[in-house]
Amino acid sequence: MKLCIVVGARPNFIKAAPLVTAIKKFQKKHKDLTYFILHTGQHFDVNMSDVFFDEMKIPRPDYQLDVDMGTTHGKQTGEMLIKLEEVMISEQPDMVISIGDTNSTLAGALAAAKLGIPIAHVEAGLRMYAKHLAEDVNRVVTDHMSTLLFAPSAVGRKNLEREGFPKSAICQYGDVMYDALLQFDKIADKTAKVFKELKLKKKEFVLVTMHRIENTYSVERARIILDALVDTAKDIQVVLPLHPRTRNMLKEHSLYDYYCEHLTIIDPIGYLDMLVLEKHAKLVVTDSGGVQKEAFYQKTPCIFYFDDKTSWKELVELGWMTEVVPKSKEQMYKQIKKALHAGPGRKGNPYGKGDAAELTIKKIISHLKGKK
Ligand code: UD1
Ligand code: UDP
Repeated sequence: MKLCIVVGARPNFIKAAPLVTAIKKFQKKHKDLTYFILHTGQHFDVNMSDVFFDEMKIPRPDYQLDVDMGTTHGKQTGEMLIKLEEVMISEQPDMVISIGDTNSTLAGALAAAKLGIPIAHVEAGLRMYAKHLAEDVNRVVTDHMSTLLFAPSAVGRKNLEREGFPKSAICQYGDVMYDALLQFDKIADKTAKVFKELKLKKKEFVLVTMHRIENTYSVERARIILDALVDTAKDIQVVLPLHPRTRNMLKEHSLYDYYCEHLTIIDPIGYLDMLVLEKHAKLVVTDSGGVQKEAFYQKTPCIFYFDDKTSWKELVELGWMTEVVPKSKEQMYKQIKKALHAGPGRKGNPYGKGDAAELTIKKIISHLKGKK
């Protein structure tokens, strides 16, 4: 049984970590279980890629592709497809694991589908029902090519059922990001550095992330968000580990230095540092799918700012997260201020028990054994 794990972007690495841990555990029992990691090269900076392999003890990728990322999504995905296919032809895996909703997720699944290799989609069934969003397209198409669909929540499972996927293909074991957090939270408390280096105080700062193309494609849109944060920074420190996409955009418009004067802007940080900042922030303000859930796991209230509704709608239903469509800096600032003064109590956890990765690999093994 040979598994191929396709990764490429930051959230793919974080979700792959607990899957690799689970595979290693099952290898003790199943001597014929092997795997290899195929990195598409979508994210390539040391602090967007290598840091996660180092901190989360993920073995270095067996294959690291070189893809031109400074181009259109179609060309990126097409280049990945060509190169992924070459590796899959030579390795002949029994199943390809594609994770999440990035272009690497789609390319990995498409390469496998064209070769008739079965696909397991980890984080299946999430929907924003918005065809203009790359991530939604990637999810829907990947789901349709997959043999096994691992939904992280009841919402994901129900979406798949409603869309007519066979019940036997759908599994709901929980969110592998929760597994990752449980695995690394204590290590993070002991070893993370940024909280201390920035001399931050618990519950006396707001943690922000900003990377979605929908929030950074125009300088006007980005300014609504960043100017609201500048106003927020008059009341409480704002820490923003900045994604390279956003950094590049601000530099292009000569705005980077201005915002650095008002906000604590730092380079992207590692996962362990991120867990600690999420835990100790008074509020998380994010356009990230992963960060909104981690804020919930770390019991920190959260604002998700985006035009479309979150695919993690349980977070809103539980009263934990507020969704904001950034229309003006005044409106965005008002929402941040309101959230800073609200004190929600967390009820329940709809994302499993922390054993999603293990149950996922167990299911994949039993599926492959059943076939042989
Ligand atoms: C991608 C995913 C998005 C995910 C995000 C996680 C798609 C369509 N989008 O968006 O779903 O939320 O990753 O972070 O797959 N860059 C660097 N160095 C890097 C990585 C990126 O400089 O290591 C710059 C490049 O200029 C690149 C730009 O960031 O063109 C955008 O990167 P890309 O991977 O296309 O999109 P993300 O916004 O990262
Ligand atoms: N993350 C990180 N360092 C950062 C920003 C984010 O380690 O500087 C982690 C974060 O903790 C979460 C994941 O990256 O586990 C989320 O990825 P991202 O926000 O890039 O993408 P999304 O989840 O929106 O697809």
